[in-house]
Amino acid sequence: MNTATQQAVAYNYKVVRQFTIATLIWGLLGMSMGVFIAAQLVWPELNFDLPWTSFGRIRPIHTNIVIFAFGGCALISTSLYIVQRSCYARLPSDRAASLLFWGWQAMLLATVTSYALGYTTSKEYAEMEWPLAIVLAVLWLIYLWLFFGTIVRRQTSHIYVANWFYGAFIIVTAMVHIINHAATPVSLLKSYSLYSGATDAMVQWWFGHSVVGFILSVGFLGMMYYFVPKQVNRPIYSYRLSIVHFWAIISVYIWAGPHHLHYTALPDWAQSLGMVMSIILLVPSWGGMINGMMTLSGAWHKLRSDPILRFLVVALAFYGMSTFEGPMMAIKTVNSLSHYTDWTIGHVHAGALGWVAMVSFGSLYHMIPKLWNHAEMYSTRLINLHFWLATAGTVIYIAAMWVNGLTQGLMWRAINDDGTLSYSFVEALQASHAGYIARLIGGSLFLLGMLLMLCNTWLTLRRPAQQPAPDNVPAAQPVEV
Ligand code: HEM
Ligand code: HEM
Repeated sequence: MNTATQQAVAYNYKVVRQFTIATLIWGLLGMSMGVFIAAQLVWPELNFDLPWTSFGRIRPIHTNIVIFAFGGCALISTSLYIVQRSCYARLPSDRAASLLFWGWQAMLLATVTSYALGYTTSKEYAEMEWPLAIVLAVLWLIYLWLFFGTIVRRQTSHIYVANWFYGAFIIVTAMVHIINHAATPVSLLKSYSLYSGATDAMVQWWFGHSVVGFILSVGFLGMMYYFVPKQVNRPIYSYRLSIVHFWAIISVYIWAGPHHLHYTALPDWAQSLGMVMSIILLVPSWGGMINGMMTLSGAWHKLRSDPILRFLVVALAFYGMSTFEGPMMAIKTVNSLSHYTDWTIGHVHAGALGWVAMVSFGSLYHMIPKLWNHAEMYSTRLINLHFWLATAGTVIYIAAMWVNGLTQGLMWRAINDDGTLSYSFVEALQASHAGYIARLIGGSLFLLGMLLMLCNTWLTLRRPAQQPAPDNVPAAQPVEV
């Protein structure tokens, strides 16, 4: 396809712009909630003795906003941008795109309000009650149709690998959301799960781990496969490896859920299966990480002057780190130490801040000027400052949680010669206090960086539009294999 034909295709950028702005706003809100609950763990008085400001209600508000609002909007905006540009086709319907945007925001607002009011299924990451779960499922099917409808209309013979990753993320999320939310409603805002006992736990963590695997990993890998080559201005290191990476990761991830249920009533064979699959998962995860990193071969010098590329590369480094740590924590003997401690929280945020948020920041900094017809962001220095705040914030956060996690795990299992516990729970909590202060500092730095990004975007948008950036045509096209 020649450049003239590429430019002749008018894409629906409106919905991409809308989701991009929503990502930034939800990001600021979700991270503020994170900082707030981190402060509550330092100063419990901040619970204010009110139900709707208590840790128990704000925590799911934090997790749902950062995963489904910040992460969700980032994934929807980038996927709709990439699928149009790499297929040279417009989304099948502008109306459906608009419905998806406004519906998604309304659903998120209703969800957050319902949690503040105390309506919850109490299943982690699946707390929304049945009417909202149905709305989410319908919106997701609209998204699925928009995404695959564009692929069907494509004017290229191949489907670029980023779309494979996004496609798998969309299909699996629909599947696990619908199955895990199956429930019997007893009133408008109360339902009971269709499953019970160990089956309920298994279905829940099959879902929970798929949120980690397919939303927080496979979806963001799709983002990586497009924006890393674009920002480096080179094709992906190995297209063949990316296809192997894709099939390997989607076939293994779906089996790893039982590692969340070690030493429970779940049958032993299921726990062992989860453990083995998690260890195998290290291989495709690192295959993808190496594929992204090696794309910089011969262009490493660009890191010196390009803070956007730095975001993307450091995100890959954190991805490599958390996907090494995860398989280790899935080993039953290691999990007996790490489970219930802050080590898990450290692992979560190594992935969430270091990988998910950083790869989103890098991708959005690349995309924003192009969406609003600017050559670059208003201030590269602000991007650089954001990068250092985010990196320092992540390192402080996870280091504090590792120290806390190991301390808690070791104190809880320490026993005296006569078999009694060496420490009470409160002693372990007191020992964690310094770590909670450090986490609050790290989280606040991260949040400050997010605020800078919002300001930088606002300043970019306020400037009069320039000519489209010179590379405003699809360039990260792969060679066919
Ligand atoms: C300023 C940044 C952030 C801060 C200060 C922060 C803080 C916190 C805190 C204090 C908790 C509760 C920990 C506990 O219960 O002991 C938490 C949980 C969680 N956060 Fe964050 N967070 C931040 C950003 C994010 C982001 C960007 C994501 C995802 C993309 C995320 C995902 C999660 C998840 C999944 C949990 C639940 C972890 C679990 O149950 O094991 N957080 N966060
Ligand atoms: C090879 C990849 C990975 C494996 C095998 C893995 C494994 C694990 C294990 C064993 C746990 C602790 C379960 C427990 O003790 O309850 C865990 C928790 C978690 N991981 Fe990973 N992890 C991986 C990658 C990631 C990535 C990239 C993220 C991205 C953010 C992530 C997010 C989480 C979250 C949110 C939890 C907390 C779940 C909860 O209890 O609420 N993981 N992971």
